Amino acid sequence: MTSSHNQNIVWHEASVTKEERQKRNNHKSCIIWFTGLSGSGKSTLANALDRRLHEEGKNSYVLDGDNIRHGLNAGLGFSEEDRKENIRRIGEVAKLFVDAGMITSTAFISPFQEDRNRVRSIVEEGEFIEVYVRCSLATCEKRDPKGLYVKARAGEIPDFTGISSPYEEPEQPELIIDTDQQSIEQSVEQIVQYLKENNKL
Ligand code: ADX
Repeated sequence: MTSSHNQNIVWHEASVTKEERQKRNNHKSCIIWFTGLSGSGKSTLANALDRRLHEEGKNSYVLDGDNIRHGLNAGLGFSEEDRKENIRRIGEVAKLFVDAGMITSTAFISPFQEDRNRVRSIVEEGEFIEVYVRCSLATCEKRDPKGLYVKARAGEIPDFTGISSPYEEPEQPELIIDTDQQSIEQSVEQIVQYLKENNKL
């Protein structure tokens, strides 16, 4: 039985609301959900954006796949079921960060549209900004920053995204960023503009 089915646990309303936190911060909170292949540039972009927002005095934070898998999600692997659970937990954590008033960037491959949609559905309209970090498999393989593609091609890593496990491209992302065509600075600017145009900043 999961805790959501436990009738002895009752939801407690917060005394400080999300709206009050946003008002004090002078900006909205939201999830900037970076999705894309391994090596596409999700973490790099999320961290560059976070640096920019932080330096502008905004409250922001990054949840990053490789780091979260060392802690909160240690024990989860890369089967379809484990990836689903990985994304479900991250979605719930990201929602809490939005409640806490943070501009929350997440950097996970999150290969399945259904899982990304589920996260979208648990926050308010406009709070989930899906950013497709688009980069060809060939380029990601060439970059191979962690040497994982070489291992995957050699059959040493099962279920590797793009090689032996699927990646579903976002159907209707809020933003598409072509990291093999534009600089990190240009990409950060593109996201900041989007946030301004949509009254997040
Ligand atoms: S997700 O699919 O569940 O969203 P997540 O973003 O958390 O994946 O983790 C991906 C990272 O784990 C990759 O950047 C890579 O460093 C590492 N990794 C290890 N094994 C795999 C695998 N089989 N497929 C993809 N990434 C893997």
